[in-house]
Amino acid sequence: MSRDDRPDPWWRNGVIYQIYVRSFQDSNGDGIGDLPGITSRLDYIHWLGIEAIWLTPFYRSPMQDFGYDVTDHCAVAPEYGTLGDFDRLVRSAHERGIKVVVDFVPNHTSSDHEWFCESRSSRANAKRDWYIWADSKPDGSPPNNWRGQGSRAVDGGAWVFDDVTGQWYLASFSPSQPDLNWSHADVQKAMLDVLDFWFARGVDGVRIDMVDFLGKDRQLRGEAPLPPGADARDYFISARHQRNRPETLDYIRLMRGVADRHDGRVLIGEMFYFLPLDRFATYHGNGELLDLAMNFRLTFAPLEARAIADWVDSYDSALAAAGAWPNYCVGNHDTARVGRHGEATARLVVMLLLTLRGTPFLYYGDEIGLPEVDVPPERQRDRLSADPNNPRSRDGGRTPMQWTDQPNAGFCPAEVEPWLPLAPDWPKRNVAAESTDERSILELTRRLVALRRATPAVQSGDFSLVAGVPDACLAFRRDHLTSGILVVLNFGDLPLEMPEDLRLGGMIIAATGCDRVGERVDRSLRLRAREGIVIDARPQQADDRSSSERLGVILAGPPLRSR
Ligand code: NOJ
Ligand code: CA
Repeated sequence: MSRDDRPDPWWRNGVIYQIYVRSFQDSNGDGIGDLPGITSRLDYIHWLGIEAIWLTPFYRSPMQDFGYDVTDHCAVAPEYGTLGDFDRLVRSAHERGIKVVVDFVPNHTSSDHEWFCESRSSRANAKRDWYIWADSKPDGSPPNNWRGQGSRAVDGGAWVFDDVTGQWYLASFSPSQPDLNWSHADVQKAMLDVLDFWFARGVDGVRIDMVDFLGKDRQLRGEAPLPPGADARDYFISARHQRNRPETLDYIRLMRGVADRHDGRVLIGEMFYFLPLDRFATYHGNGELLDLAMNFRLTFAPLEARAIADWVDSYDSALAAAGAWPNYCVGNHDTARVGRHGEATARLVVMLLLTLRGTPFLYYGDEIGLPEVDVPPERQRDRLSADPNNPRSRDGGRTPMQWTDQPNAGFCPAEVEPWLPLAPDWPKRNVAAESTDERSILELTRRLVALRRATPAVQSGDFSLVAGVPDACLAFRRDHLTSGILVVLNFGDLPLEMPEDLRLGGMIIAATGCDRVGERVDRSLRLRAREGIVIDARPQQADDRSSSERLGVILAGPPLRSR
């Protein structure tokens, strides 16, 4: 039986909740989130119905890139806790049936990592080739035209000249994150050992940072020149030597080998979301490579019904054709939060995320509608904001989780300044307030997660667009043997009437306003501006229980505090 044929793998059915470790819960009063803090909030995560948590890097690091610059892959950064804390977190999560996914950062290390310190010390050092070093061109310019990120997305921008040995090193992300040389057998072994270490500690999967960057052309051939007007996105789509190399798939296969030695732990890869779908799909390799190649397209796409429909439809078909399982992500620690569009739109997007065919990645705080916070320059911490030519701060989407209406929203003690400011609306927008408000976005999210858990059509039913709806509307069906749902989302600013001949009949089982649940739709359906609903569209005879009884089962849930 191939991996994909196994019944109900958890990573297909459940919701994966991304925790930005630094921002979730401080346990020791230093204003910084930590591992024991997360452990103390597992009851909340369980109450929300989450299948797995994904923890952003908590490894030893100088924190130039808040943990994506690792100096020891197998040690916990002291500000986040200890290995003992990590073990307790995994144990406590597993006791509640929650899986744990950790970040694996294989493309680069910190420039402070002892491997790099050795490598840069001399051209003859035994670890010299653990990283990618090259001479200047005869005119003194960088070895080739490979590009970095941000203001380094210019020809040659990925290279950093190092005076110590008079050569350039490759750093595709930032100068303090030199790229490892994955063609070197010792590098492969060292990094696969890291994977083995975390799997042996009980983690259920890894999210692999910048996985599509691992292979690099060994001859360091430059990329083909781009036509005038092309941008960084075009560069990385057409790149053949710096990114998306065929050998990257071999490296993933090696990781698969390690994962399978631990009973098929899950491999999730951070991918370039604009890669053409046929190339994107190859990263799944028929169940032999990534389980989930992360799809952030909705995070960046304009929130227009037609554009979303086109993208989802083509993505869903491409993955189905490749025998791969889709996934969706509408926000993460690198992008502005979905809350930037206002709560009504955030509700629509949460409904979309949780009803599509594919594993949903839910970013912490989106369930309470956290806004993108306008962090003043003096409180910004993301080093990208210091880039003189392309300042871009990711801080606004990384602000602390808001738990209560107490000072600092329960994230850290009142007398401590949290590492980033809270959203100004924290006295009202917090878990305590929203978990007792049956119309809150938190309650909406919890119900949709519960609906997903309870309904095969939502977990694994086929996806099909409903044609003929007004342009501002996205409507789709999910059908599974005898069950089915219909999702209708009005992304427009005006109320809309659905054409009667669409026969959108059934009972509303979820509504973005949490107010229309139980209403029967009989052909005519009117949606308010920015309203979305889910209709139980199963054939009547398919259910021996009444719809309202089923609905009661789905929506019932004990209050947060009683757990
Ligand atoms: C992608 C991560 O999500 C981001 O936060 C990080 O800065 C880069 N990779 C570099 O590791
Ligand atoms: Ca702390």
